[in-house]
Amino acid sequence: MKRFYSKISGTGFYVPERIVGNDYFEGYLDTSDEWIKTMTGISERRYIDEKMATSDMALAASKMAIKNAGLKPSDIQLIIVATITPDHPFPSTACLLQEKLEIKHIPAFDVSAACTGFIYASDIARQYIENGVYENILVIGAETLTRITNMNDRNTCVLFGDGAGAVVYSLAHEADIEKFIDSHIEADGSKWKLLQQKAGGSCLPSSKQTVEENLHTIYMEGNKIFKFATKTMVNTCNVLIKRNELELNDINWLIPHQANSRIIQSVGKKLKIDPTKVIVNIQKYGNTSSATIPIALAEAIEMQIIRKRDLVLVTAFGGGLTAGSMLIRI
Ligand code: ACO
Repeated sequence: MKRFYSKISGTGFYVPERIVGNDYFEGYLDTSDEWIKTMTGISERRYIDEKMATSDMALAASKMAIKNAGLKPSDIQLIIVATITPDHPFPSTACLLQEKLEIKHIPAFDVSAACTGFIYASDIARQYIENGVYENILVIGAETLTRITNMNDRNTCVLFGDGAGAVVYSLAHEADIEKFIDSHIEADGSKWKLLQQKAGGSCLPSSKQTVEENLHTIYMEGNKIFKFATKTMVNTCNVLIKRNELELNDINWLIPHQANSRIIQSVGKKLKIDPTKVIVNIQKYGNTSSATIPIALAEAIEMQIIRKRDLVLVTAFGGGLTAGSMLIRI
């Protein structure tokens, strides 16, 4: 039986121009540049322009990824957007993006897995290509987290930024060196309460009261998530390493979800991976949820830090609580 393989054929990213440094929060909150840097590793983050939304950033990242893949928008056969900050509750941001890319008659849908969203969406894309259904799929992680952040809550507001990253996955041949080797996704629904936007859904529809009680912004029990994050990112990486009979020494680059530099360091240490092999850009962009991984990947490829033939291990955790990893030869 004929086997189909998938690979990354192009990457792209977009971050808003407006840079917001830690001093911005010092101006009105009981916090400090030193606390934020020491506890999170973040120095600055990007905030979207008032007139833009998630699909606008997704469009910019997508155009770059499609161009880098040497393709035209009309070559794309499926669009998947990973986001928890869609332009509208419905329709999906993927449909808005499809219109902006002027692509007709292809499927487009969103995936909601919070910070693990890009890995979930990539795992889905891989199945379509490896089952011989499509040849070129556009996957985007895009978030406008500033629109659901309580800017008066020092526990959360210093952490988040806006941005988008995109990858085109394409059909690969058996002889190709570059390949999407494997992916693993999982969830622990029993912990969903730790990270959520409480109102605005069918459980607690928007009302004057939900707005007054500030229930439309990110609620997070950071400390408990911290522990889950380290454990599950290490576990999901080990699943892939074992299943593919690899050693961690075989990995050229680890791209962990950029939520907190202490989580990143702890994951690297537990995996016993050389810190120089870990991609970190949280200091510049903060946590952009589903966008951190495709932004880090696209930026590292653009800067020629990650090069052709490098073996890249990617891992994330997020609301749900969800977790996942993927292994890709670039
Ligand atoms: N400035 C100063 N002090 C602060 C700040 C701040 N910005 N934020 C919290 N503190 C204080 C707390 O109030 C607390 O004070 P207290 O001891 O007087 O009560 C103290 O610092 C310690 O707080 P902790 O929450 O226990 O500190 P912790 O070591 O857990 O660090 C942090 C907090 C950085 C949020 C960490 O828990 C973390 O990064 N967790 C993971 C978060 C994450 O990755 N979330 C993913 C969400 S993304 C998504 O899905 C949308």
